[in-house]
Amino acid sequence: MCGLVGIVSGELVARRLMDALRRLDYRGYDSAGIATIKGGRLERRRAPGKLLNLQQRLDADPIDGVIGMGHTRWATHGVANETNAHPHVVGDVCVVHNGIIENFSELRKDLAGAGVSFESETDSEILAHIMAQSLARGEKPIAAMLAMLSRLRGAYAFAVMFRSDPSMMMAARFGPPLAVGHGIGEMFLGSDAIALAPLTNEVTYLANGDCAVITRNDVTLFDAHGQPVERARQLSEVGSYLSDKGGYSHFMEKEIAEQPEAIARVLARYVDFSAKFVKIEREMNFSVAAGITISACGTAFLAGCIGKTYLERYAGLNVETEFASEFRYRELPFPMDRVALFVSQSGETADTLAALHACKASGIATGAMINVEGSTIAREADAVFPIVAGPEIGVASTKAFTCQLAVFACIAIAAGRRRGIIDAAQEQELVGHLIEAPRIMREVLSEIQLQIEDLADRLVRVPHVLYIGRGVSYPLAMEGALKLKEVAYIHAEGYAAGELKHGPIALVDKSMPVIVIAPYDRFFEKTVSNMQEIAARGGKIILLTDERGAAKSDLPSVARIVLPHVHDIIAPMIFALPLQMLAYQTAVLMGTDVDQPRNLAKSVTVE
Ligand code: AGP
Repeated sequence: MCGLVGIVSGELVARRLMDALRRLDYRGYDSAGIATIKGGRLERRRAPGKLLNLQQRLDADPIDGVIGMGHTRWATHGVANETNAHPHVVGDVCVVHNGIIENFSELRKDLAGAGVSFESETDSEILAHIMAQSLARGEKPIAAMLAMLSRLRGAYAFAVMFRSDPSMMMAARFGPPLAVGHGIGEMFLGSDAIALAPLTNEVTYLANGDCAVITRNDVTLFDAHGQPVERARQLSEVGSYLSDKGGYSHFMEKEIAEQPEAIARVLARYVDFSAKFVKIEREMNFSVAAGITISACGTAFLAGCIGKTYLERYAGLNVETEFASEFRYRELPFPMDRVALFVSQSGETADTLAALHACKASGIATGAMINVEGSTIAREADAVFPIVAGPEIGVASTKAFTCQLAVFACIAIAAGRRRGIIDAAQEQELVGHLIEAPRIMREVLSEIQLQIEDLADRLVRVPHVLYIGRGVSYPLAMEGALKLKEVAYIHAEGYAAGELKHGPIALVDKSMPVIVIAPYDRFFEKTVSNMQEIAARGGKIILLTDERGAAKSDLPSVARIVLPHVHDIIAPMIFALPLQMLAYQTAVLMGTDVDQPRNLAKSVTVE
């Protein structure tokens, strides 16, 4: 996903723009650029590839100036080359843009009809052309901006500066987040609080449709109707977790290791440790809801699939799960007595946001389980359930996943109590197990590292891997497969173990490792049968089980990892760890870009 940053200051800005872009590294990108204004000249440097290439350009040919903007581009329209890299400059106008202008073709055709020729293949360049044309007609910048916004359809967060007026910068957003950062004698713009963290921790998020005019000492906001508007100024907590690797080789490794403390933060937020009950401030009328629809993308969706099991088992709720990219287009009339819960680490995923909008339009009560508390989904849902995982920088989601599971467990227990499905004693017992999770996770993380390294050695040489499981181990199998695909670029599939006979077992031979997730739960014996079927066909089984499962002698595996036997309510959090570690370790052996895997972005804010 693209990232942008802007600075209006009295001090030189080029170095700080690059620092801020490095903080946006995690979002995934394939070209970058910065521009400044100095002495009536607009200076720009751009480069394809990583920020290192841009830094080399700047080292060879520096630019200075006390106003400037920077951008990391994740290509949507046009290849990742210097010409398509932002900032885009047309005459006196300089623009950086995140998002997709959906009516870009018709606007480009209008501009071409007016004799405009284009430098790039991007949709973003048209913003600079439209603004330049308006200014050439003598329109004031704010009038020109509002007129342009009325013509745009799609998603955008962009910043504009003008060679002729280096005292101010303008910005607007609809969709991807955009924040104003408040400094002393300087103002900032950034795609998120992480980008602004080195510059300030005081931020104001623009609402959808807003535009902003910033100068060194002031910010003026206008709403979609051009009326002046105030937005909350808040302290960003990102600074306290400020994203550095803390001695780990990758953010993904750090975030896997952080999970015990992250889960402890979730419990501190949602659990009364002395009385052992769950405290949910904002509930979603679970006691009256006929059911819940959980909608999300990727790993967040798989967390929702496990959350479904918790809500059905402990709260007696009817739950359906649906990918947000499908849910947003469903024709079915949505029953008014259900509630919709959206899970999103970033709180900016376009499909999940669109699904939320579809539900709000139908008048359905909506909840959001998010990690970034200032995010769009958080702001637009009726109830918010923060997962307090702290900033997750690695593109592959790890600590957010297990924190989502922990919050689902808390929600399910609270809903179960309100619906009379579980009593106080059962709640205390379940909470007692939850409280054990951080300690057990810490033990597992240290105890299985060497075994994971051995297993990674096996996987690094194979083209395909099958993950299977039953019950909650089925979405866990899909999550394990997703992790391996994402970071190690090895094809993997997660499958319901009971489905093997209905096709996938045709894939099984000695060249295809099968990772079997089998805690000693009510599905264990059935899964063992599946293992026998695999072994009988020469399949090589890597078994993830617990002490009770391992005690069974007839388990045909070529390798196994034995985890502590724990209560079902925390087993998914424990079994997620070897899956994450295995993907990470295999990726390291494969030499991939672990924190920013190819083609991926941390938050997919475009459809
Ligand atoms: C997970 O490892 C991936 N990075 C991806 O599937 C991610 O979970 C998905 O894009 C949803 O992101 P969100 O949680 O920010 O909405």
